[in-house]
Amino acid sequence: MAVIDVALAGRSYNVHVARDLLDEVAELAAAFIRKPVVPVVADANAKAHHGPRLEKALTAEGRQVAWYEVPSGESSKSWQGLQSLTDWMLAQGVERGDHVFALGGGVVGDLTGFACSILKRGCGFVQIPTTLLAQVDSSVGGKTAINTAAGKNLIGAFHQPSLVLADLTALDTLPDREMRAGYAEVIKYGILGDRDFFEWLVENGAKVVAREPAALEHAVATSVAAKARIVAEDERELSGTRALLNLGHTFGHALEAETGFSDRLLHGEGVALGMVLAARYSARRGMISESEAELVAQAIADVGLPSEISALQLACDGRKLADHMLHDKKMDAGTLPFLLLRSIGAAFLAKDVALDDVASFLDEQLQHR
Ligand code: GLY
Repeated sequence: MAVIDVALAGRSYNVHVARDLLDEVAELAAAFIRKPVVPVVADANAKAHHGPRLEKALTAEGRQVAWYEVPSGESSKSWQGLQSLTDWMLAQGVERGDHVFALGGGVVGDLTGFACSILKRGCGFVQIPTTLLAQVDSSVGGKTAINTAAGKNLIGAFHQPSLVLADLTALDTLPDREMRAGYAEVIKYGILGDRDFFEWLVENGAKVVAREPAALEHAVATSVAAKARIVAEDERELSGTRALLNLGHTFGHALEAETGFSDRLLHGEGVALGMVLAARYSARRGMISESEAELVAQAIADVGLPSEISALQLACDGRKLADHMLHDKKMDAGTLPFLLLRSIGAAFLAKDVALDDVASFLDEQLQHR
């Protein structure tokens, strides 16, 4: 069992990483349960797989659970989804001093977190992430949001949870493809800031994806600890430190946009390809060697994640992909900062990248095999 502290002045909280935490929720979250009915928001898949276990744990002392089920999928992160959820929370009598529990992946965590940030000007919430991606990334750090017609996560708030319980047994029912997609965010921590962790993953990545308990716990706990350090240093992404977590996301976002944010390319798969592109683009600019960039590509391919954009068979050129980047929410005064590498384990924010150069690099990559 690992317990990681996210150290924020006056709002510190713990992230527990272990097996079977779902059975211990009542004890671990006792400080956040103060009424006989516990409000729990869950996506349909998470509720089907883990709801009975969570309900058993929460009702052991005569309490009840009030469930709010959210349809699985990104479309739940909408104005309408937010309105329905906040109406339900008000009907449940949720007060500012109460906590709402969020069971599921990033969609449920982001939606519930945002609803809690505005309910009566802010109530508490506890995250129980059930996907690898949510455990190592979205449940930690307090970014909450919904999507609008103009783009993803454009309306939201920083609102930190009071507790995160990452139960590794919840990953047993996760489809393999989603497990691999979550792994992209795990290896991201190695590539952006921890060469030793990257090398450990090169050796042990297959065990992590296969959910071998010791390897999985080490990978999730190391990732959460890295994220906790970054969030504690730059909670609101002001100094550039938290921006490092966007490694691979600018290229990845362009690929996700070109594939219509669909099942053709999951977010984590876009991030995996984006990190390969960031590494190869860093090599093109002479910042790292080509062999180092290929180490990144190989480590990603080794677990079965996509590593070549040519395999996506996109009907577009590099310019079109680069144009998608103009809508990236990281645009700052007309320029788009790019996360590049000084070495594996040392990412940095480059503010001098010309989109024309990125477009011709992407043209080459679209042919690369
Ligand atoms: N997922 C990026 C961040 O939390 O900043």
